[in-house]
Amino acid sequence: MNKQIITIIFFAIATNSQAQITQYKYNNTKNIQVKNAAVVSAHALASNAGIQVMRNGGNAFDAAIATQLALAVVYPGAGNLGGGGFMVAHTSTGKNIALDFREMAPAKAHKDMYLDSAGNAITKLSMEGHLASGVPGTVAGIFAIYKYAKLPFAKLIQPAIMLASKGFVITKAQADGLNNSRDVFLRNNKNPTAFVKKTLWQAGDTLVQTDLANTLIRIKIKGAAGFYQGKTALLIANEMQANNGIITLQDLKNYTVKERVAMQFSYKKYEILTMPLPSSGGIILEQLLQMTGQKNLASFPFQSAESVQLITEAERRAFADRAEFLGDQDFVNVPIKKLVSNKYLQLRMQDFVPSKAGSSKLTGAGNPHESEQTTHISITDIAGNAIAITTTLNDNFGSKTIITGAGFIMNNEMDDFSVKPGVPNMYGAIGNDKNAIAPGKRMLSSMTPTIVLKNNKPFIVVGSPGGTTIPTSVFQSIVNIIDYNLSAEDAVNKPKFHHQWLPDVIFVERDFDKNTIVSLKNMGYEITERTNIGRTELIKIDNKKITAIADKRGDDDARGF
Ligand code: GLY
Repeated sequence: MNKQIITIIFFAIATNSQAQITQYKYNNTKNIQVKNAAVVSAHALASNAGIQVMRNGGNAFDAAIATQLALAVVYPGAGNLGGGGFMVAHTSTGKNIALDFREMAPAKAHKDMYLDSAGNAITKLSMEGHLASGVPGTVAGIFAIYKYAKLPFAKLIQPAIMLASKGFVITKAQADGLNNSRDVFLRNNKNPTAFVKKTLWQAGDTLVQTDLANTLIRIKIKGAAGFYQGKTALLIANEMQANNGIITLQDLKNYTVKERVAMQFSYKKYEILTMPLPSSGGIILEQLLQMTGQKNLASFPFQSAESVQLITEAERRAFADRAEFLGDQDFVNVPIKKLVSNKYLQLRMQDFVPSKAGSSKLTGAGNPHESEQTTHISITDIAGNAIAITTTLNDNFGSKTIITGAGFIMNNEMDDFSVKPGVPNMYGAIGNDKNAIAPGKRMLSSMTPTIVLKNNKPFIVVGSPGGTTIPTSVFQSIVNIIDYNLSAEDAVNKPKFHHQWLPDVIFVERDFDKNTIVSLKNMGYEITERTNIGRTELIKIDNKKITAIADKRGDDDARGF
C-alpha cells in the first residue's frame, strides 16, 4: 500500500470517529486510528466530552477531568463522584505522575466493624448499604489532576452538568443494569432516586439526574469544597447519620489525595509505569512480567496450554503474595523490594512443573464476583501527554445508596479491606492484618492504570475494570502486543483467562479455545467458564500513529482526531 492510500484510510477512519454526536443520538466507535489525540472510556458521551475539550485547546489532563466528570453522569454503575481511583501519567516533558485518590476508611471505622458478636463476618454490610462506603476521593482527585490542566474548570465540568440536567439516552446494557439493580436500590434508599422509575427502563429512555446536576454546579462554583464542605458534605453526613453510616463532616474535610511515586520497571526494551500501593496492581503486574519472562513466555504459542499454564502458575504465586503481604504502606510494612526482586521471583517459580497443575491450599474462598464495577480511561494528546486513570465504586452501582438531594451513588469500597483474615471479599480475594480496617487507611486495590514507554515515549496506555482480574487483563494486553505481536484490537478483544490463587481455578471467557481447555484439564487444572473478564481501554502509539481500542465487551468507546 502506498503512502497516499494509507493517509486516505486514516482520514476516513478518523472522520468517522469525529461524527457529531448528541446525548440523544450517539453510537460507539471501537477501533480508531488518528494522528493527534484519543480518549477511550466506557461511554461514547464521556469519550466525546474529553475529545471536545482537546479540540478546544485543552490537553490530556483537561480531557481526563471532562471525561471522568461525564462518566459520573452517563455511566453511573462505575463512573462516579462517590468513589475513588488512581491516575498514572507521563507528561510531554517526561515527568511521571501517580495520583492516589483512593477512598479512606472513616475515623469511626475499626478492624472488627463487619463482625457479629460471635466474631463471624457479616460481609453483606461491607458490600451494600451506608456502612459499606469509604470516604470518597474522586472529586479531590479531579482537582489534583487540574494542576496539570490548561482550560478554566467551568469548561471541563459543563458537559457533565448538561448531561445530568438535560439527560441522556441510555443503552440496552444500561437499561438492563438499572433494572437488575432495581430491588437493591429500593432496599437501600428510603427516598426516590433518579435510577428507579415506576416502570422498567428500556434502551432509548432518557435518564435525567437533577440532584446530581446541582451537586456538579456546586463543585463548579466552589471547587473541591463544593463536595467536601458546605451543602454537599452536609447531605452526605445527614444521609449517613440517618442510615447507620459512619462518614462524618470531619471525615470529608480530612480527605487528602496522595501524590505517590509511580512504579517504574523495565520489561524487555520497554519501561513500564504503573500504580504503587495501595493498589496491588503494579506489584502483581511486575511479578507476572518477571516470572513469565524468566521462563520465556514468548517461546510458547499464543494461548497454547503451555503459555496459559505458565501465566496461571505466575498468577497463583502473585495473588498468594497479595493476600499475605499487601496493604496500605502508610499503615503497614510491605517488603516491596523483595516481592519484585528477580531472585525472589526465580525462587517462587522453582517448583513450577511444566504440564502439571500446581495447587493452592484451599481456605474456603468463593468464586470471583463478576461485575463491571470499575472503569478505566486512556488518553493521549497532541503534546505527547499520556494518562491512564482507573476509578471505581467497587461493585456495580457501589453500595447501592444514593445521597438524598445530591444524586450520586456511594462506593462500597470497604469490602476491599480484609473484613476478617481468610474471609473472601466479593472478588474471592482474601487477606490478613496487612489489609485490615483502620481509621484513615486505604483499602487494597487491584486497579492497574499503566503506561508502557518505548524509547522514553508513551507506547501503550492501558487499564481495565474487573476487581482482581484487573492486573491479569492489563498483563495479558501488554504481553499480547509485546510478546505475541498481536494487533492492539486483538490484544484487547481476544478471550482472556484468570487465576488468583484462591479459588484454585482457571477462569476462562466463554469463547476461550476449547482445545487449550482440554489440554489444561489433562494437566490437572480445574476450569470454570465465566462472563467477560475486564473491559480494557487501550491506546497504542507507534511511529506517531495513534490506535485507540475500546473493548468489545461493553458500550466502551474510542474517539479521537
Ligand atoms: N474495587 C476494585 C479495586 O479497587 O480493585
